[in-house]
Amino acid sequence: MRNILVLHGPNLNLLGNRDPEHYGDQTLEQINLALAEKADKLGLYVDCFQSNHEGELIDTIQQAHSRYQGILFNPAAFTHYSYALRDVLEAVKIPVIEVHLSNIYQREAFRQHSVISPVAAGVICGLGLNSYLLGLDALAAILEKE
Ligand code: DQA
Repeated sequence: MRNILVLHGPNLNLLGNRDPEHYGDQTLEQINLALAEKADKLGLYVDCFQSNHEGELIDTIQQAHSRYQGILFNPAAFTHYSYALRDVLEAVKIPVIEVHLSNIYQREAFRQHSVISPVAAGVICGLGLNSYLLGLDALAAILEKE
C-alpha cells in the first residue's frame, strides 16, 4: 500500500462558505472524501490534514519521512511566501504535487508566484476538486515508475 499525505493550508477549513466564486461550494470534508474514494481505486491510502499554522505543517512534513511515499499539498496563502515550507519539502525528498482550487495565474499579482513550485514534482491549478483528484493520479503515476 502506498501512503499519501494530503495537506491543506490555512483557511481551507472554511471551504464551502469561503469565496465560492474562486473555491467552489464543496467543503473540505467533501474534498477529503472524494480523495479517499479515488485513492481506493488507485490502490493508494490517503491521510488528510489541515492546519492554519505554518509550524504545524512543517512538523507534519518532517514526520512524513518514513510513513508516506507522496504528498499532495495545497499550501494556500503559504504558497506565495513560505520559504520554510519550501525548505522542508526539499529536505524530506518525498515527491510533492502542489495543487490549487483556483487558477492562481488569473488572480491578484501576489498569487501569481509560488515559492513551493520549484521543489514540487508538478503543479495543478484552476480545476477545483479536480486539481486534487488529478494530483492524486499524478502521484500514482510517479510511484508506479519507482
Ligand atoms: C489557493 C490559492 C491561494 O492563493 C489562496 O491563498 C488559498 C487557496 C487555491 O486553492 O486556489 O487559500 O491555494
